[in-house]
Parts: sequence; structure tokens; C-alpha cells
Amino acid sequence: MSRFCRITGTGSCLPPRRLSNADLAVELAAQGIETSDEWIVERTGIRARHFVDAGVGSSDLAAQAARQALAAAGRQAQEVDLIIVATSTPDMVFPSTATMVQHKLGIAGCPAFDVQAVCSGFVYALTVADAMIRAGSVQTALVIGAEVFSRILDFKDRTTCVLFGDGAGAVVLEAADQPGILATDIHADGKHRDILCVPGHVSGGSVLGDPVLKMDGQAVFKLAVGVLEDTARASLAKAGLQDTDIDWLIPHQANIRIMQSTARKLKMPLDKVVVTVDQHGNTSAASIPLALDVAVRDGRIQPGQILMLEGVGGGFTWGSVLLKY
Ligand code: ACO
Repeated sequence: MSRFCRITGTGSCLPPRRLSNADLAVELAAQGIETSDEWIVERTGIRARHFVDAGVGSSDLAAQAARQALAAAGRQAQEVDLIIVATSTPDMVFPSTATMVQHKLGIAGCPAFDVQAVCSGFVYALTVADAMIRAGSVQTALVIGAEVFSRILDFKDRTTCVLFGDGAGAVVLEAADQPGILATDIHADGKHRDILCVPGHVSGGSVLGDPVLKMDGQAVFKLAVGVLEDTARASLAKAGLQDTDIDWLIPHQANIRIMQSTARKLKMPLDKVVVTVDQHGNTSAASIPLALDVAVRDGRIQPGQILMLEGVGGGFTWGSVLLKY
């Protein structure tokens, strides 16, 4: 009998400190940086984001999201035999955020590691967990996207600092005799590294380079729109489905205009796209599982529906996961 895997629980965590565009504009104005709610909403669809307080790391948000996902799945942490955390903002250079989450959940022994594919990280992590479950070595996995992008923003650069937020989303993935995950499709092309990067690193006891986010917004926009359509079509083809079979599109939440453009290309009405960018901003690897959890908890996503999860981010990396919920 074939072995598949399915999502059995979702969870999320947003830090309590919420800044509307107006709140952020006031903070930036104090440093001589000018922006407005009107500009941010019109160009991006973002109205608010959450930022962590000092001392809170990705592993704290991830552990909280994981606890919620486990409760939703009716599972105990002791039943988890794999933890993957997608993050580009780990607590430390090492150990991995996943091992810290494992410890915070009060368990030990199962493999735990991070995946670094920036905003595509959750799709990459799901793809890896799906393969390990189908191979038979894992029964129950926690797959988490967690980020504290507020730590790597340049608050003097208004073209980037208004776009991002902090948060985490998690799913419990379990072996099943029916899918579940129907198809996965992941890619990378390293020649685009300079259009979206944090070009700093640690060396000889110092931070070298510039450890804040740099982005060529228009280049990212053009690339993102093209690859998101390609990867969605690739996953549909692998599963033998059509775009009309998708019940919910859950894209990476970077910018409402990228989402609208992808939906148009896939001939999907906008009310079939789960949108949280307005309330969360771009939370990188956390954005897809956060959006998934919101739409599961508010009752939009129902068992048996077909979901297309897709992401694109620095690297460049991109990919999609097509699944029956
Ligand atoms: N507030 C007010 N004005 C601003 C701001 C701001 N926060 N930021 C830029 N401006 C000004 C610029 O200075 C410029 O002024 P000028 O015409 O006087 O020179 C004007 O607005 C237009 O700037 P552009 O950069 O051309 O604005 P654009 O329409 O390209 O929008 C944006 C910028 C929103 C970043 C857009 O390029 C975009 O959406 N790109 C996609 C990138 C993205 O979403 N990245 C997220 C991370 S990547 C990922 O997750 C895949």
C-alpha cells in the first residue's frame, strides 16, 4: 500500500506588539524618515505588522505555534519524530532553531534541523518532511516557519522597512494511506542573489558586511510573478489536476499586487486567495503557515478541499505544494 502524508493540525503565533502603518510612520518620522499609510497600502496592501520585543527569538514564536498545531492535531509533543524549522532569522548562528524548539517542547531524540530558503522556506520544509514521511522513516512531523525580520531591517530604508513583520506558523504532518500532499515542486537560481539579500556575516568575532535587508523591489516583483505561475502549473501537472480544481490559493504574503497577478494567471477569483498580508506584512517563511492557520481557524478551509501553497524568496528560491486538506 502506498504511503502518503497529510496535515492534521495547524497553529500560529504573532507577537503582541502590533504596529499599524500610522504607528510605524510616527516611529520612522522621529528618525527623519517619511512614509504614509496611503503609500504603503497602495503599493503593497499592508496595513499592519507585528514586531517582537527585545529578548524574543524565532524559537519562542515557533514553539508557541507548534504547541497550537499539536493541540489542533490531538497529538502530544512526545509523538513527534521530526522537527523542521524554516527560518532566515535563527536565534543564533548555531545550534539550529529547530533544536531549540525541540527543547522548548520538552522532548529529545528526534531529528531537528533548519531549512534556509528565505520566503520559500516553508514550502521547502514541507517538501522535505513529505519525502521523509513517504520514505517510511518518520510518522509524525512538525513543520514550522518562524521569523523575526524586524531584527534584520534597516529602519533608515523606507523602501524595505515598511514591508516586513514577525511571526510563526506550524503544521503537524502525519503518515496516511490517502493523500494529503499531492505534489511538490521546488527550485532555486543563485544568480539572482543580489536582488534580495542580507549581505553580512560573522567572522573573527565581528559582524562583517552589512547585516540588514537589501532589495531591488522591482526586479523581485517581476521575477516573483513569473515563477509563481510556473511552479503552480508544475505542481498541478504532477498531480494531474487543473487550475479550476484549486479551492484555495495560499501564496507567500509579500505584496497584494503579486498575489492578484498570480491569481489572474491561474484564473482564480480573488476571494479564493487567502490574504493576510494586510494584517501581518511579509513574514517570510512564516507567511504561508500563518495564512493557512487563519483560514483553517475561521472555517474557510474545509476537509477535502484542494489547497495550493506557493512561495518565492531570496536566493532566488521558489516552489509550491499542492495538497488535499
Ligand atoms: N513611503 C513613501 N514613499 C516611498 C516609500 C515609502 N515607504 N518607499 C519608497 N517610496 C518612494 C520612492 O522613494 C519613490 O519616490 P520617487 O519616485 O520620488 O523616487 C517612489 O516611492 C516609488 O518607489 P519605487 O521603489 O519605484 O516603488 P514601487 O512602485 O516599485 O514599489 C515595492 C516598491 C512596494 C517594494 C515594489 O517594488 C514591490 O512590491 N516589489 C516586490 C518586492 C516585495 O514584495 N518584496 C518583498 C520581499 S521579497 C519576497 O518576499 C519574495
